[in-house]
Amino acid sequence: MPLVTSTEMFRKAYEGGYAIGAFNVNNMEIIQGITEAAKEENAPLILQVSAGARKYANHTYLMKLIEAAIIETNLPICVHLDHGDTFELCKSCIDGGFTSVMIDGSHHSFEDNIALTRQVVEYAHDHGVVVEGELGRLEGVEDDVKVSAEDASYTNPSQVQEFVERTGVDSLAIAIGTSHGAYKFKPGTKPQLRFDILEEVERRLPGFPIVLHGASSVIPEFVQMVNTYGGNMPDAIGVPEDMLRKAASMAVCKINIDSDLRLAMTGTIRKYMAEHPADFDPRQYLKPARAAIKEMVRHKLIDVLGCNGKA
Ligand code: G3H
Ligand code: 13P
Ligand code: ZN
Repeated sequence: MPLVTSTEMFRKAYEGGYAIGAFNVNNMEIIQGITEAAKEENAPLILQVSAGARKYANHTYLMKLIEAAIIETNLPICVHLDHGDTFELCKSCIDGGFTSVMIDGSHHSFEDNIALTRQVVEYAHDHGVVVEGELGRLEGVEDDVKVSAEDASYTNPSQVQEFVERTGVDSLAIAIGTSHGAYKFKPGTKPQLRFDILEEVERRLPGFPIVLHGASSVIPEFVQMVNTYGGNMPDAIGVPEDMLRKAASMAVCKINIDSDLRLAMTGTIRKYMAEHPADFDPRQYLKPARAAIKEMVRHKLIDVLGCNGKA
């Protein structure tokens, strides 16, 4: 099975009322944990690579690890650039074999976002690659860019049709109240998402795949594990799973998850190191970390995304 784009995945997900998991990958153990769970649950997958991941692990290493995962699993897997911020970065990923790219022009003006996104779409479509655009800004940290609560803004549904028509994007990320990282909602407040905006976007773009960023649940078990074994993560709060299930049953076809992978890995490694202070073989602590990622991803595929059995 060669790498695939997300076109067919999204079509089926939209019709079936479920979503595809887009998991951020940075190294071999993360890729193995995710893809082993997907293989056992027969789930389609998007593996996404940020500019930071590409800098850390190197494009070729990540591509070859993903190619290895395809050989091992025989699953439909789409390789996606997460938060591309320039035409040059998107081009480099397209030329290097990615099947999907995100051009995140959400911090530009509406017109500049359209112009940049259109430029990427033209190059991508000429090369058989699909494009995710973004309208509206999410709070939180991506690489070196921090978006403050004041600068974050919800997507304006009245702009989505024009954006999609003028850019030709294949999917659209919108801002409805999620944010990147582990601190998504104010402590003591009830997490809320603007489902009214999602509904309005769906009404204006019937059948069009919508993407939800910042969609980790910040699983309390792993936060607790980090804190029990020497960490200090006060008031880490994620998106409740029932809200993600609801979004997946609507127009949301792609749900982005990174922080939950980081927490599963870090919590498990902290625990292992605390319990085995004399151990210095990386395989000994990476093995349980990989297993924790696998079980966490299995839970997401079945209980949150509903894409198990859909490969
Ligand atoms: O949206 C951001 C993702 O969590 C990727 O994070 O840029 O630190 O790799 P990163
Ligand atoms: P989280 O930080 O909620 O995992 O979001 C990841 C994401 O949106 C990657 O693009
Ligand atoms: Zn994101």
